[in-house]
Amino acid sequence: MSNKLWGGRFTTSTSPELEKLNSSIDLDKRLYAEDIICSKMYSKSLCSINLLTDDETKSICDGLDRIKIEWEQGDFKILPGDEDIHTANERRLKELIGEPATKIHVGRSRNDQVATDMKLWLKKSINELDKCLRDLVQIIVNRATKEIEIVMPGYTHLQRAQPVRWSHWLLSHAWNFKSDSDKLEQLYTHTNIMPLGSGAIAGNPFHIERHLLAYSLDFNAITQNSMQAVGDRDFIVEFLFWASLTGIHLSRFAEDLILFSTKEFDFVTISDSHSTGSSLMPQKRNPDSLELIRGIGGSLFGQCCSLMMTLKSLPSTYNKDLQNDKETMFSTYDKLTSILKVAKGTVEFLKVNSIKCREALSFEMLATDLAYYLVRKGVPFREAHHAAGKVVTEAEKKEVFIYDLTLEELKTINEHFDSDVAKVWNYENSIEQYQAIGGTSKSSVLHQINSLDAWLNYTNVAAKEA
Ligand code: ARG
Repeated sequence: MSNKLWGGRFTTSTSPELEKLNSSIDLDKRLYAEDIICSKMYSKSLCSINLLTDDETKSICDGLDRIKIEWEQGDFKILPGDEDIHTANERRLKELIGEPATKIHVGRSRNDQVATDMKLWLKKSINELDKCLRDLVQIIVNRATKEIEIVMPGYTHLQRAQPVRWSHWLLSHAWNFKSDSDKLEQLYTHTNIMPLGSGAIAGNPFHIERHLLAYSLDFNAITQNSMQAVGDRDFIVEFLFWASLTGIHLSRFAEDLILFSTKEFDFVTISDSHSTGSSLMPQKRNPDSLELIRGIGGSLFGQCCSLMMTLKSLPSTYNKDLQNDKETMFSTYDKLTSILKVAKGTVEFLKVNSIKCREALSFEMLATDLAYYLVRKGVPFREAHHAAGKVVTEAEKKEVFIYDLTLEELKTINEHFDSDVAKVWNYENSIEQYQAIGGTSKSSVLHQINSLDAWLNYTNVAAKEA
């Protein structure tokens, strides 16, 4: 007869190959603390409906506390038959306290247990991720404040477009990360619904007080359909999608910085602590930190696809296919936290070459300002845009800088050009026009810094929910 927790109706033992494939303990041991708290609170619920005595409940809770310490201290011994964290903890509890341990699983299934453990784990992890995002935004805001005077070309289509503040570019990425953090709030709310009490599929037959149980486990609500609850992994898919989008934001930030660190741009120098060398070419300084962020950031979407494909056409309720969810959830969390931390360090220690940034500006980038100059003289924008375009062509034809054209030459293109046109040829003036909120003027960038500062001083996701 099998000695497994579910082994009652089995006459031969599991094949070693299936045993290996079926086992998830190497991954789901990460859920030990969540599994233990769930079992403690569930045993208290059983006690309140007289399925356990006070003494039994106490002995179960004490035993579980001891198991938790064993895990924490690395003393927990995983035995060959420990299929997953739930069976391992229950097996160990029986060794420690004997008989009462065999009563704890009444009315419960690993199906509602695993979904509950994972939600508890994800809630905790959402807060960790939020912290990493906020740390990154903080570093960006610090730099943006300190380096607000630095100007550089802003790019569209990767072509020089208009002069902007370096801080404006930096903050453009910070806003993406803030938006990632905002989205975590929604994910947290969706994850904050307790499946425990759903049993294997049909529910709980013992009048368990699910609301109280949820309260004791710090859940905000309970699931309303046991069949849905045991097969639902939407919260993980949402997490994986969220992580993919955050990874994409990180990859775009990394890509900008990789370009800016090339000798062709030379706007930034990545610190030694965040670059590596070449084993062959002694002169090389490679932005590996950023390349890893870019690569891993993109690959997170693969994990999202992977779980979605597992779920596609899966019969409703619990199927063992769902066990794959752990690998994607844990690995996505690990990868994302590590690239968020490396991104923070890279931004913190890079050097910005303000002179190179400024030298990369060129006067044709002020062609738009030339058009705005005419607009301010009453010329309709389309006509002004056309005239400014002609000025650019004229300068190109004459092989001179755009500001070297004489007033007479300008006047032949549009009569509204006057001597005050000289004021246009100034990058700071250009930048300072963009005073509306969201623009690149100093006041607008300071406004962004203030809003982000206010947000950073605000509490994290879970605290906001509570
Ligand atoms: N280790 C399993 C998982 O992660 C736990 C649930 C198993 N339930 C079952 N009826 N086999 O999905």
